[in-house]
Amino acid sequence: MLVLGIESSCDETAAAVVRDGREILSSVIASQIEMHKPWGGVVPELASREHLEKIEPIVAEALTRAAVSLYNIDAIAVTQGPGLIGSLLVGVCYAKSMAYALGIPIVGVNHIEGHVYSVAFENPPVEYPALALIVSGGHTNIFHVPTEGSYKVVSRTRDDAAGEAFDKVAKMLGLGYPGGPIIEGLAKGGDMSKIKFTKAKISDGRPDLSFSGLKTAVARYMHENDITPSPNGGEPEQEIKDLAASFQASVIGALVGTLEKLATELRPKTLIVAGGVACNQALRTAAETAGKRLSLPVYFPSKHLSTDNAAMIAAAGYAHLKNGETSDMRMTADITMRLQNLENEDSQLRKQNVRYRL
Ligand code: KG4
Ligand code: ZN
Repeated sequence: MLVLGIESSCDETAAAVVRDGREILSSVIASQIEMHKPWGGVVPELASREHLEKIEPIVAEALTRAAVSLYNIDAIAVTQGPGLIGSLLVGVCYAKSMAYALGIPIVGVNHIEGHVYSVAFENPPVEYPALALIVSGGHTNIFHVPTEGSYKVVSRTRDDAAGEAFDKVAKMLGLGYPGGPIIEGLAKGGDMSKIKFTKAKISDGRPDLSFSGLKTAVARYMHENDITPSPNGGEPEQEIKDLAASFQASVIGALVGTLEKLATELRPKTLIVAGGVACNQALRTAAETAGKRLSLPVYFPSKHLSTDNAAMIAAAGYAHLKNGETSDMRMTADITMRLQNLENEDSQLRKQNVRYRL
């Protein structure tokens, strides 16, 4: 089955052609990073206009690179949510029109489930139960996945997402956007034991995460030690590198520590670490070390599939399609779409094939 995946939830317009959920024939991504850079973050209105410009040529390019025609496509999978409303609507409306015109099925995909399926390529098939840490600019969750397609959130951030914390700290240090790769680069030349940031603890005993306190601790440290943002283009001082390394170690410690604690309790067969922050090599190394301690395989997407892409959307869509689950033309963008279908399970909803509690 050939699935055309379409992703436009944030600042990447992406299209991909994937065979049987595991073989990428093409994956094309138009990033808007340069356009949003001067503002230090994504400007929603600019993002949706850019998606509108790019969606048609990006889909055409994905078909050309896959050497298939539109008439070879069996189904379309499109990101339905969560994300920015204007951005999501561009992809959803485009995908619905195309599916209607071609008379083929369409399936709306949860973007976070897409990240879970980004490990479907270049890894052995996932063995369930699995535990999936999804860390990106917009989300930080750990999901227990007892069987394919069933999700329960077992840890979530109470405030900022991990990627958001990287981006905000980089902005405070005057380092540019997106912050994750820049901080990772600086951290390589820094000493992570220089500054001991206390790990944010959630007082109600749940294994949840919190990064906004850490961000404030970085701001306080900068203030108390007279650290000023790096001048544009200048080589950052050693103390900024140490700060980057210490901040990164604190984020990774919280993420991997929580994953390991939950894995010890829930005894999964596979660990999954995905989302934009999974590009971070220090996070990969820490997760792999934890996997070794637990004697569990850890699956990561390759780096180009860690950040937003449409191949992962096609893979997640394929999993639904092979179960006969499709969306109809009433499907629309859902900015707060959640991925959790195990809590308070309602058999009526399950029978009606409503997979997500909205
Ligand atoms: O998954 P993604 O492309 O978009 C969302 O769904 O949010 O993730 C983007 C996020 C940004 O916050 C970016 O700073 C972060 O991933 N990121 C990283 C690294 N590369 C990207 N964070 C830490 N280290 C990296 N190497
Ligand atoms: Zn994402």
